[in-house]
Amino acid sequence: MSGKVISGIPGLDELVDGGLPEGRVILVIGGPGTGKTILCGQFLHSGIYNGQENGVFVTLDESKEHFYSEMKQFGWDFQKAQDERKFALVDATRVSRVSMLKEKLYKEESRSLRGKQLPIDKLVEDLQAKISAVGAKRVAVDTLAALTFRFPDPIERRSAMTDLIESLSDLGVTSLVTTELGYLGLQRKALEEEFLVHGVIMMQTLFSGATTTRAIQVEKMRGAKVNPSLVPYSIDQNGIEIYPTMPLFGDK
Ligand SMILES: Nc1ncnc2c1ncn2[C@@H]1O[C@H](COP(=O)(O)OP(=O)(O)OP(=O)(O)O)[C@@H](O)[C@H]1O
Ligand SMILES: [Mg+2]
Repeated sequence: MSGKVISGIPGLDELVDGGLPEGRVILVIGGPGTGKTILCGQFLHSGIYNGQENGVFVTLDESKEHFYSEMKQFGWDFQKAQDERKFALVDATRVSRVSMLKEKLYKEESRSLRGKQLPIDKLVEDLQAKISAVGAKRVAVDTLAALTFRFPDPIERRSAMTDLIESLSDLGVTSLVTTELGYLGLQRKALEEEFLVHGVIMMQTLFSGATTTRAIQVEKMRGAKVNPSLVPYSIDQNGIEIYPTMPLFGDK
């Protein structure tokens, strides 16, 4: 039986039966600005400094510098963690944002090795190396949505995502993988990624008249008794906090 991982996000563990399932992949679905990147940073930073679990961040859309400076606002110094060999970053932005010129280079580079899958294989290789280098127990991948540009064909994209998610499961780390919400509401179609992962957490911004509320919901967590309610969360200078017992449109 695998154990529970203390997420480091106040309120989240209460929704998922005491913690995230160890060694599993959790998909975090959220629209722009819902706090996906902050959630990843908080999970990793807390793992390093509160749980002695080192971490690796895979960025598919932001530069390393951008991520570091964004996280610094919350007091999370990933440069320091990196210097202490507790953290490593895999810059995979080239996988998702390939300019015409680079695309050409890629093709040449991959001619002998063949296939569009090459960038994912290389990414998994880099990830594996960094996990070993820092002895990581936690990984965050932000964001699968960025792969849409690289793999406009849904079948190829699915295959790339499956490879990535399966590799994460095999690596024995507890992972958060973010992606974007297709559209809001009850009729939301399940994303393909949802079927591949162990758990799904959804973050969204709800509008009620002039008020907006941030709401989070654990949609699935295999093997755990979850609280499936849509509950409010906030973002402030300390990061994300979830309020599992607070009504959605109540006063904060
Ligand atoms: N100090 C802060 N206090 C309150 N809210 C903040 C603070 N810092 C950032 N935010 C909010 O956090 C959100 C951005 O978080 P984050 O970058 O993690 O979102 P994201 O889901 O990754 O967005 P994107 O889709 O653009 O990558 C914004 O809505 C911003 O208003
Ligand atoms: Mg982001």
